Amino acid sequence: MTPLSTALQSPPAAPEILRRCRELVAPALAEAVGGLHPWVAEMAGYALGHCEMGGAPAVRGQGKGVRQALAVLGAEAAGGPAEAGVPGAVAVELVHTFSLLHDDIMDGDALRRGRPAVWKAYGTGPAVLAGDALFALAVETLTAPATPHAAAAVRHLSAALRDLVRGQADDLLFADRPWRGPESVRVGEYASMAECKTGALLGCALALGAQLAGAPRETVTALDRAGRHLGVAFQIADDLLGIWGDPAVTGKPVHGDLRQGKKTLPVLLALTASGGSALAELLGSPAALDDTAIRHAATLVERAGGRAAALREARRQLAAADGLMASASLAPRPAKELRALLSSLAHRTI
Ligand code: IPE
Ligand code: MG
Ligand code: MG
Repeated sequence: MTPLSTALQSPPAAPEILRRCRELVAPALAEAVGGLHPWVAEMAGYALGHCEMGGAPAVRGQGKGVRQALAVLGAEAAGGPAEAGVPGAVAVELVHTFSLLHDDIMDGDALRRGRPAVWKAYGTGPAVLAGDALFALAVETLTAPATPHAAAAVRHLSAALRDLVRGQADDLLFADRPWRGPESVRVGEYASMAECKTGALLGCALALGAQLAGAPRETVTALDRAGRHLGVAFQIADDLLGIWGDPAVTGKPVHGDLRQGKKTLPVLLALTASGGSALAELLGSPAALDDTAIRHAATLVERAGGRAAALREARRQLAAADGLMASASLAPRPAKELRALLSSLAHRTI
């Protein structure tokens, strides 16, 4: 048997942590989705990566389950049993899936995790409906009679969702803003958009687990803030992958964000650098950019230092998350696992 001191020094590897949490949460998640109208349940199952179209077991498409793991570890870090975090884990996973489902419609993205997005597979109307169902199910999960601290948990999730909508709204509005001049998107505006769009739900996942386990308010707040920093790092990683990621790994079309004129951090940082004017001219051209021009834009972003500067900012955000976690009073074993998960996610995605 591994001595406790050794176990504390070397937490399990991230895939192992994620797998343990997914296995713990899977039955509750499947039960929740199984209660929906069968057609809606199939779309929800497809979006979650549980099944293919028609309901056959999925061959691929399941997410890593980062948010559900954060909720489970949040409960344990607060001194509770892993099970205390399960309703929070189910709720954040459902809200995350719902947000991606609707996001693909808003972004017009046909692919998600290498498969047709739900709206491509089932139609836009049905996809909207499935998203709505997932959201309702998330609230219902948190308010199940046996869940303690349910009202506070629902308030927390609703506040996170309100922030997510705020971030998503800014993200959509940014697309129509110019690349240069007084109306252009500032790096600070990007940061608050990313914190809302991606950080709010990650912060909520971590904090919700702790909240359900009865953690004091300071711990819940510290974990929420840590998750928000992690979320900004995640969003920057998503931006970097959106330009330089391998489509075989990301499951998304190459250069999709550049093509859509997304105000991603590497591009915004490149535009503020000394070599950014050629890039601004190219991106600001009224004609649609063809593949060669898009590839050239990616090169110009890199040359102006946008890629390296975005990477530095992601690392800074991760260090802030790590610092908050280190200063919160958390149970040692889950705290170590959380920090191990964080650092491995950083290496995987950035
Ligand atoms: C999705 O944002 C986040 C939300 C739905 C709130 P993005 O549009 O940037 O993410 P991907 O690239 O489609 O996953
Ligand atoms: Mg999108
Ligand atoms: Mg989007």
